[in-house]
Amino acid sequence: MAQPTYKTHLGMVDILPDDIRKWQYLEQLIRTEAELFNLEEIRTPIMEQTELIVRGLGKLTDIVSKEIFSFSRGDDNYVLRPELTAPVVRAYVEHHMEQRGGSQKLYYIGPMFRAERPQKGRQRQFHQFGVEVIGSDDPLADVEVIAFMIHIYKKIGIKNTTLKLNSIGDPESRDTYKAALKEYLKPNFEKLSDVSKERFEKNPLRILDSKEEEDQPFIESAPLITDYLSDESLQHYQAVKEYLTDLDIAFEEDPYLVRGMDYYTKTAFELISPDLGSQDALAGGGRYDLLVEEIGGQPTPAVGFAAGMERLLIACDELGIQLGDEKSVDVYIVTLGDAARKWGLSHLPDIRDLGISATIDYKGRSMKAQMKDANRENARYAIIVGDHELETNKFTFRDMVNSEEESISFPEILERLSN
Ligand code: HAM
Repeated sequence: MAQPTYKTHLGMVDILPDDIRKWQYLEQLIRTEAELFNLEEIRTPIMEQTELIVRGLGKLTDIVSKEIFSFSRGDDNYVLRPELTAPVVRAYVEHHMEQRGGSQKLYYIGPMFRAERPQKGRQRQFHQFGVEVIGSDDPLADVEVIAFMIHIYKKIGIKNTTLKLNSIGDPESRDTYKAALKEYLKPNFEKLSDVSKERFEKNPLRILDSKEEEDQPFIESAPLITDYLSDESLQHYQAVKEYLTDLDIAFEEDPYLVRGMDYYTKTAFELISPDLGSQDALAGGGRYDLLVEEIGGQPTPAVGFAAGMERLLIACDELGIQLGDEKSVDVYIVTLGDAARKWGLSHLPDIRDLGISATIDYKGRSMKAQMKDANRENARYAIIVGDHELETNKFTFRDMVNSEEESISFPEILERLSN
C-alpha cells in the first residue's frame, strides 16, 4: 500500500467510525447524568486570547511556558485552549452570568490542546468533560462536584479508583508554606533534579509533584502544607472531608498533591486509576476562589474538575468494559435489477419515517454479495426485492437473526417493523 501523503499532527488522532460509538455513548451518559445533577452545558470557542490563558493559569506553569499552541493573525494573539476553567470563567465574566441568579452550575465536553510529549494517555489534542460551579464558597459545592465526578466512573463500571485530596489553602498560607519548603530544600538544592532546581525559585510547590527519582527522598519528608493552613482554610477542608464521609466517598489525603495551574485555592483533588500506567490521573480539579477576580470579574468563589476522556476509554479497555452496542442497522433492502433499486430507494423514507434505520446497496452487487453486506452491517431484517416481487407486490421479509422468511406486502412489512 502506498504511504499516505498527509497525516495528522503528532499527538493528534482521528476518531474513526469504528470507535465513535464509544464516544457517543460516553457523551450521552455524561449529558444524562449532568441533567440529574442540575448542571447546564456551556460551549466556548476552541481559541482564546493568549493573555487570558497566561493570566488565568499562570505564566510559570508548564502548560503556559511549554505546552501552548499559539499563533497570531494581524494584531490578535490566539491560543488553542489547553483547558476550560479559564475560558468558562471568561464567559461568566463577559456575559455577566451572575445576573442569571444563584450559582452557575456548568458542564462541558470538548477538545483541548497541549503540546506535550505524546505517549499512552497523553495526546496533544485530547478531550475533557468537566464541571465548573461558580458562585459558591460552601464546601458542599466542592463535594457535589467531586460526587458528580465519582458518579460518572461508577456508572460506567470503573470502580478501582483512588480519590486523592488536599487543601492548598489561601495565598497567604501558601506563601508561608512556600518559604518553609524552600528553607527545607535549600541545604539539598544541589541534589535536586534539574527540573526541580528550575522550579525552586519560580514555582517551588511543583517540586512536590516531581516524578524524578532523585527528588523523592526530599519530597517524602518535606513540610506539610496542611500544617500551614489558615483557620478558615482548615475549617473548609474539614467540612469537605466530613461531607465526603457522609456520602460514603472514600478518599486518601495527600498533603503533597499540588495541581498544575496557579489558580487553585483550598481544595485540590485528583482521581487516580491503577489501570492507566504512568499517566494515571483520570481527572483532577479543585477550588479557584480568586480566578474570577483575576480575570476582571467581581470576587466570586468557584470550584470544578475536568476528566480526560481518552484516559477513561483506556481504563474501560483495560477492564474489558464495553461502551455502547455494536453498530447495526434495522433494515437492509436487497435489490436485484434497476427497477428493484428504484423501488428500494423510494421506499427507504417510509421505513425511516417510523424511526427505523434502513439502508440499501449502493453498488448494484449480486444477491449473495448484498446478503453478505447485510450481515457485515449487522442488519436485523432484510427486504429482498426482484422483478417477481415487484410483479406480485409481495416481498421477502427476512429475519436475519433466526433466518425466518415470509412473503408479504410492503404495508405488512411496515406493520411488522413497528411492532
Ligand atoms: P488537568 O489536571 O490539567 O486539570 O486535566 C484534567 C484531566 O485531563 C487530567 O486528569 C487528564 O485525565 C486529562 N489530560 C490532561 N492533559 C492530557 C493530555 N495531554 N492527554 C490526555 N489527557 C489529558 C484541568 O484541566 C483543570 N481545568 C481542571 C479543573 C476544572 N480545575 C478546576 N476546574
